[in-house]
Formats: sequence, structure tokens, C-alpha cells
Amino acid sequence: MNTAVDMVSLSTPVKRFVSQARQALIDGRWQDAQSGETFEVFNPSNEAVIARVADCKRADVDLAVAAARKAFDKGPWPRMSPSARGKILWKIGDLILENLEELAQLESLNNGKPIGVARAADVPLAADLFHYMAGWATKIEGSTIPISVPYTPEVQYHAYTRKEPIGVVAQIIPWNFPLLMAAWKLGPVLTAGCTVVLKPAEETPLSALRLAQLCLDAGLPPGVLNVVTGFGETCGAPLAAHNQVDKVAFTGSTEVGKLIVKAAANDLKKVTLELGGKSPNIVLDDADFDVAIPGASNAIFFNHGQCCCAGSRLFVQEKSYDRVLEGVSKAARAIRLGPGLDPQSEMGPLVSKTQFDRVNGFLRSGKEEGARTVCGGKRHGETGFFVEPTVLDGTSDKMRVYQEEIFGPVVTVMPFKEVDDELNCYNIFDAALPFGGYKQSGWGREMGSEVLKNYLETKAICMSI
Ligand code: NAI
Ligand code: MG
Repeated sequence: MNTAVDMVSLSTPVKRFVSQARQALIDGRWQDAQSGETFEVFNPSNEAVIARVADCKRADVDLAVAAARKAFDKGPWPRMSPSARGKILWKIGDLILENLEELAQLESLNNGKPIGVARAADVPLAADLFHYMAGWATKIEGSTIPISVPYTPEVQYHAYTRKEPIGVVAQIIPWNFPLLMAAWKLGPVLTAGCTVVLKPAEETPLSALRLAQLCLDAGLPPGVLNVVTGFGETCGAPLAAHNQVDKVAFTGSTEVGKLIVKAAANDLKKVTLELGGKSPNIVLDDADFDVAIPGASNAIFFNHGQCCCAGSRLFVQEKSYDRVLEGVSKAARAIRLGPGLDPQSEMGPLVSKTQFDRVNGFLRSGKEEGARTVCGGKRHGETGFFVEPTVLDGTSDKMRVYQEEIFGPVVTVMPFKEVDDELNCYNIFDAALPFGGYKQSGWGREMGSEVLKNYLETKAICMSI
């Protein structure tokens, strides 16, 4: 383990930010939870408490939704010119870049990811999303439609569609990319002219709270963005079920995704879901192994395997099996584990004790079911939630490690004979490229122009002329 001496020293704004209990944002004002209660937020690299945050529950959710409702029904945001809205979105992107180091430090401190990754990927991608979306604000267009109504042949019509903001949106996000998930959700919902109540994950609320302040600084009117910090059952559930919410956008577990659909059924709210996955990665005998081996390693180990699109099942064509198994294991052994804030670290800890226990449970079950651990397979160090990058061989499609999403740095490797499908590559994210899953991995897409559909209704208008 690296020593504290090597760590990036926290900047003054970060120290200041974590030194006081962070409040919820409701109707443009930072406020304590109605109960006055707070909860602790941890540094997963050393298990220390780094901050306290408002423990929002139903009463706070009610206030936040009422503020978003008022801002949508009466406020300037949905009525503002698209150009003015776009300028505010652009400004949010600029402010993210101006505060890049502070946001990267907060992200690394709270989530555990290497500071270099937060600086190079999470924060710039978050900024880029707002910059990309800013351009769309002026390009949300309906169409004119020539219609041929058979029972009124003598009448001429002017028929057209308008794209209207869907209304008040609840957004519930996870902890694996805390800032980026907030950006992926907020960029399009604001561009569409909706108002929002955002609930960050209880493990990682800090960067979303900082982002919310940047949104206010950029000129977002009060009540357009509200942020409630709290737990899934006591804050997320009442938000998802709230009868003044028109739409829920959720990223997280498939299990909670299904609960959200049930909660939304009461009043037929719209729902989009970005859920878990168990992605296969395929290496053929004719691959360029200098690319394929590091590629397969990055597909699973990026972000400590805490990605819904992690390449967690690696299939290798028979003749190349040993070479690739050995290559990926060698790459896994070479990954330097350490605290996110140590610039030398290439992989940080898992985000929480819960996730640490969950991933260790999978490692145990793999052993019990007869998988062979080629490398890794256990905790790293004695404090912090570090798990060694792990390669499992000799797995079968009946095993839990093969069947279920582990959400940790664990890959199962398996040989195969023939393939007749096209291939894809991993972990290439861009604001313009739609992202999302099939089947139980969710409904709808994030990013690109595609995501705007999540937050717009189509109104058809028909006038006889
Ligand atoms: P989770 O689905 O419980 O949490 C995600 C968000 O949902 C958090 O903000 C949480 O507070 C909220 N939430 C939890 N219960 C809720 C409820 N009843 N109603 C409304 N909101 C609720 O995920 P968790 O427990 O953190 O992780 C469990 C597993 O889920 C992971 O091991 C992984 O397999 C998967 N996961 C997938 C993610 C993805 O990117 N698709 C992200 C995080 C987790
Ligand atoms: Mg959960």
C-alpha cells in the first residue's frame, strides 16, 4: 500500500467543501433535512468519514417536488428562449472545466477512483455532455405532416408536431461515476426544458452537490434543479412514487429498476432505466493480441469493474486461449492498487463495505463452485475496500460468477470454437454516442440526440385551413 506522503494534497476548496455538513438544494436554497438529521459519507480508500450530508426523507422529497412543480408550471425555464437555455447549459460545462481539479479531487476522495482518471475522463466528459447538449437546445423540432384524411376529402389541413418538455422529472443515480451520471441525466433533462429532482447515491453525493452549485452559478433559475441526498428506501422510493412527478429516470440495479417500474405504474409515469449487465467480450484466433489483451483487461478492470458495461465474461477462441488467459492475468497482476488520491494508483478500492462484501461473496462462490483463480481472488491490504484484480478460469455457465453481475474487478475466461457475429469495443464514451442496454439492462438511451426523447412529449396539432 502506498503511504499518505505520496497523496495529492486536497485543495482548499475541497477541504472547505467537506468541512461542513452539506445541505439539500430545494427551490434554489441550500437547506437542512426537515428532520435535521445527517448521514456520514466515507472515503473507501481508508474507511474514514469525510463529510456529513442531509438525510432527506419523504418530507424533503415533497418540498423538492413542489419546488420543481412550481418551476415547471409557472417558472421561466420551460418558457425561456431555447438560445437562452442553451447558453446556461454551455456555461455549466465551462464552470465544470474551470473547477476541474476540485471536482476530480472530490470524486476521487468519495468514490475511490484514481485521481488521474477523474481528471482525464469523468470531469471532462461531464463538461462535454453539457457543451454537447447546449447545442441541442435550439434544435428540438417537430415536423409538418401532409395528411390524407379519407372521410373529409374536401378539407385541407395544416398538421404538425411540437416537442414539449415532459414536466417534472425524478432522477435517481448510482455511485460508480457520481459526477458523470449526474451530468448524463441533467444535461438532457435541462435542455428539454424540464425541471428536476435529483437523488445522488447515498455513497457518493458530494460531486453532485458541487455540480448543483455550479448550475446555480451558471444562472439556472430556482426550483429547476433540486437535489435531495438520502437513502434508497427512505428518499428514492417516495421520489419515484410521487404523484407530482411526471417521469422517472433511473440508473442502478435491475432489482431496483423493477421496483421503480412498479412505483410508476400507479399513475403511469414515464420511466427510463439504465441497469446492470454481464457483457461478453470475444477474442478470435486472428486477433492482434497486442491490442486484444490490453483491451480485454481494460474492458473488465476499468473503474474497478464497477461498470454496467464491464467486459466481465471473456470468450477466447480455442487456439489462443492459453495466450490470452496468461496475458490478461499478467496485466491484472501488474495493476497498481492504492488510494484514489495517490497519483501512482491505477486501481482504487470498491466504493463501499457493501460492495466489498458482495464482490468477496462472489469470489467465495466461484471457489465453492469449482472455478480456478488464476490471479487475484482476495482482499488487498487491511484497510479500505480493495479487491485484487481477479481472473477466473474453468468456469461453467451454471456458476453464479458467470451468471450474475459482480460489479467488481473479476473476469471469467472461457474457450470457444466458432463465431459468426460482428464485434464491438469497450469503454469508448462520447456525448454524441447513445449508450444503453437491451433486455433487462434497461429502457431508453443516455447521450446523443437519442436521450432527448426521454424528456420530450410529442404533441400533434391539426388545423383545418
Ligand atoms: P441500487 O440500485 O440500490 O442503487 C442505485 C440508486 O438507487 C441509489 O441512488 C439508491 O439510493 C437508489 N435506490 C435504492 N433503492 C431504491 C428504491 N427502493 N427506490 C428508489 N431508489 C432506490 O444499487 P446498489 O445497491 O448501490 O448496487 C447493487 C448492484 O447494482 C451493484 O452490485 C451492481 O450490480 C448494480 N449497479 C448497477 C449500476 C449501473 O451503472 N447500471 C450502478 C450501481 C449498481
Ligand atoms: Mg441497493
